[in-house]
Amino acid sequence: MSKVPPQSALAFHKGSQVQALAQHTPYQSSTASSETDDQITPAELTRQPSRDFGDRQDAVPSLNQRLRHNSSILCVVVNEDTLYAGTQGGEILVYALGTFQRKATIEGHKGSVLGLFLSRDGELLFSSAGDRIVNVWSTSDLSRQYTLHSSYDVGDIFCIVYSSILRTAYIGSQNTTIQWCSLPRKGSKAHARPQASLNGSHSSFFDSLDPTGVRTPRANDLEPAPRHASGGESVAIGKENVRHFAHFGYVYCMQLVNDGIPESAGQEVLITGGGDGLVKLWKLGEGRHGAPEELYQLDDGREEGHSILAIAVDGTFLYSGRSGGEIDVWDLETRQLVRNLKAHRDDVLTLAIGGGFLFSAGVTGYVRKFDKQYGLKARLKAHEGRVLTSAFTYHHRRPLFVTGGSDCTLAIWDISDCVSPNTAAARTSNEQLIDCLRRFVSYRTVSSDPRYMMECRKGASYLRSVFKNFGAATEMLPTSDPHNPVILARFRGNPATAVKRKKILFYGHYDVVAAENTAGKWLTDPFVMEGIDGYLYGRGTSDNKGPVLAAIFACAELIGDQALGSDIVFLIEGEEECGSRGFEKAVNAAKSSIGDIDWILLANSYWLDDRIPCLTYGLRGVIHATVQIESSHPDLHSGVDGSSQLDESLKDLVMLLATLTGRDGKVNIPGFYDPIPDLTAGESELYRDITAALIQRNPNLGHPNQLAASLMHRWRDPSLTIHRFQTSGPDNATIIPRLAKVALSMRLVPNQDAVKVAAALTRHMQSEFARLGSNNKLTITIDHLAEPWLGDWKNEIFKSLEEAIMEVWGPLDARRRWSSPLTPVGEETVPSRKPSEIEDHAVHDAITDTNDAHHGMQTAVQHPRKPLYIREGGSIPAIRFLEKAFGAPAAHFPCGQASDSAHLDNERLRLANLYNSKEIFKRVFRDLPCK
Ligand code: BES
Ligand code: MN
Repeated sequence: MSKVPPQSALAFHKGSQVQALAQHTPYQSSTASSETDDQITPAELTRQPSRDFGDRQDAVPSLNQRLRHNSSILCVVVNEDTLYAGTQGGEILVYALGTFQRKATIEGHKGSVLGLFLSRDGELLFSSAGDRIVNVWSTSDLSRQYTLHSSYDVGDIFCIVYSSILRTAYIGSQNTTIQWCSLPRKGSKAHARPQASLNGSHSSFFDSLDPTGVRTPRANDLEPAPRHASGGESVAIGKENVRHFAHFGYVYCMQLVNDGIPESAGQEVLITGGGDGLVKLWKLGEGRHGAPEELYQLDDGREEGHSILAIAVDGTFLYSGRSGGEIDVWDLETRQLVRNLKAHRDDVLTLAIGGGFLFSAGVTGYVRKFDKQYGLKARLKAHEGRVLTSAFTYHHRRPLFVTGGSDCTLAIWDISDCVSPNTAAARTSNEQLIDCLRRFVSYRTVSSDPRYMMECRKGASYLRSVFKNFGAATEMLPTSDPHNPVILARFRGNPATAVKRKKILFYGHYDVVAAENTAGKWLTDPFVMEGIDGYLYGRGTSDNKGPVLAAIFACAELIGDQALGSDIVFLIEGEEECGSRGFEKAVNAAKSSIGDIDWILLANSYWLDDRIPCLTYGLRGVIHATVQIESSHPDLHSGVDGSSQLDESLKDLVMLLATLTGRDGKVNIPGFYDPIPDLTAGESELYRDITAALIQRNPNLGHPNQLAASLMHRWRDPSLTIHRFQTSGPDNATIIPRLAKVALSMRLVPNQDAVKVAAALTRHMQSEFARLGSNNKLTITIDHLAEPWLGDWKNEIFKSLEEAIMEVWGPLDARRRWSSPLTPVGEETVPSRKPSEIEDHAVHDAITDTNDAHHGMQTAVQHPRKPLYIREGGSIPAIRFLEKAFGAPAAHFPCGQASDSAHLDNERLRLANLYNSKEIFKRVFRDLPCK
């Protein structure tokens, strides 16, 4: 071999696995001038320099999603709705472009997956790898159809293309060959040979070190085959189907071109790029049994030592990216080198064309975008490491550019803003929903912190503008200062039918709990929404901004389709996280302008796990109280003043609190448990459903009875929590504080009356305090209270929600995918509701489920799954109040998954949940009023 592969191209074989993303700083596209690959001086430019930016940088692609994995992403192919990515770990990751959910992980190769190709009809996916094998997969069920292997030891198979016309696959390999192989028609056994004969083949040539000292690791043939590398027909590539020394160097890249090459006489042309620095064009013809016939080569006259690592073809122009950072532009009409772009400071590893641009990227981690005149239009940092692969596609007419890198991530870039407005498609409703949510999340509507009062106002005013833009009549209902206003908005149904129809009130909140990323625990800035792994991360995405916008967009879409029959009234408040301060008063004052209401709907809680949709029919109430003990003396010194004669405030408080609860968390307030109803038979049945569904998926959850008991304790039993102590004086070990106070709360259940319980708590504390005979002063403040709520889960609104959920989410098993290596089965932490790191492959996108035992694909007919009817331990003060104020029953539809992390770091909402929730709202808003 005359040429040595550049270190850069091979480095990803060296097992130098990059750290998983968890430790990384947030990913952001960056245009910072610190980019290393931009400091190019004129002296460095070779031939015709590329015009750097001209006078201004164009629109920069915007990052839609970052998809994380645990090994480098080496190759990608993408069509309108699916993205396939080959990894260093030998897997092919399959993602849905709409929701960015991983639909499957094909464990397909023992070595790195180096090349992927999709057949023209999209039905076959070809993967070539470092294990010297090519696998051919059906894209409909992801089963293996063929496995191709060479008669020679080819080394790494860097690239693959497939001619549908010739039914022939072409591969480019490390041993300088191009080889080809026609796919036998199903049933014909012409080429088949048993797979076993392959095992144990070794090559001292490829197992030895190459001159750079790089060893390409060979897969151990004794290792078991990867999980999904089974089945299909095994095909040997005949010795006659080999073109030796196709390049004097590795064959790194290839492209198949159907037309535009004058010399091909209408036949397909294979273009290859190699370690010898040459680009070669080969005519493919039926007459020669698919054998490539060399047409000509493109040689820029460069000295040896530069490899062609990437090629792209656009009409009659061909781009070749090479080691060292340059891109040659060739005119295939004349075979002339028309430009040489000094694009990057280091090797160009990938090129892609789309949206009128050429994208190049490589070792530096930066992407550069060139226009048709080869002017540099934008650059951005795409990966924390090398960009190893890229591709371009349109998804719902939206131009998307995809990159994969050595940082084990894929990035999906929307380049709509880069293409001219007349070629860009209008944003779809779902895209507008994302844009809106991004903006909504950017307002720090933290109601508990007076510093954010203006941000709350701005957030409210933004939300109001969203309502207005969709044609809703809106009003700001003032609350007593300094509390945030309530937004009242009404979407009017068709006037001809509206009066006869029932009206729905949707309740939600625009305020959020505080979030800071000072400890660096968030993956992102909490107020800059980012898409990662099919989720949207940001404070408020799930509690409650995402669900509120889903409901608004549902109305807007119904109006667009002229399908909104009734009025839908929205009450969106800004004080929910502070116990709905001022809400009752504001709503009572606006009752006449709100009008009659028949049903109340809210969406502010979570599923029990990450998979099964739920409906919530009960919430606990809550009392927040502050208990304070104050003495007449100042803060004192325990050495100087400490004595048994002194009534210490904190000691009093501790003694007092000790009287509140007993063993097993039992609350000692007299009469506390009296109003709680016994468990009914119907209720027990609901718990049986829940525990069966959860345990089936996750046997670690224990015995059904224990699980049911644990849920009941949290949903239908009251509880008392002591949150925090506060004391006066300096924080040192000698202080006897003058004042001590404690924040406590009690969660209440039906039929406990919050006002009565608050009074009983006060009475109990006062009488216990009296028994202490202390000289100190006790003050009890009830900060806020909320009544518990128990809905009627058999009524029309629940029925309507149930039907919509079943239609939209469909059968549960159709949403189950191959579990990926990141999915340790049975680790879901349902009972404690801890945010799980578990990837759940629940997707709505219909795709045939796969039986991973043997690609049997015999999927039984699946029926949509009923939602689980659950209660919740949390509280929403407004719900019971609204029921009473309007004499209308409420229902609670949780949009989010158990792992959404509301109130915690890394709050998020899955895209599939956002989109499906909007669909469910649409159906309910359309159908419920007619029932
Ligand atoms: N969405 C939650 C309520 C919730 C939490 C429902 C968990 C179901 C499960 C709501 O935004 C909230 O945080 N409520 C507070 C209310 C309190 C501030 C009066 C709560 O439950 O503590
Ligand atoms: Mn909340």
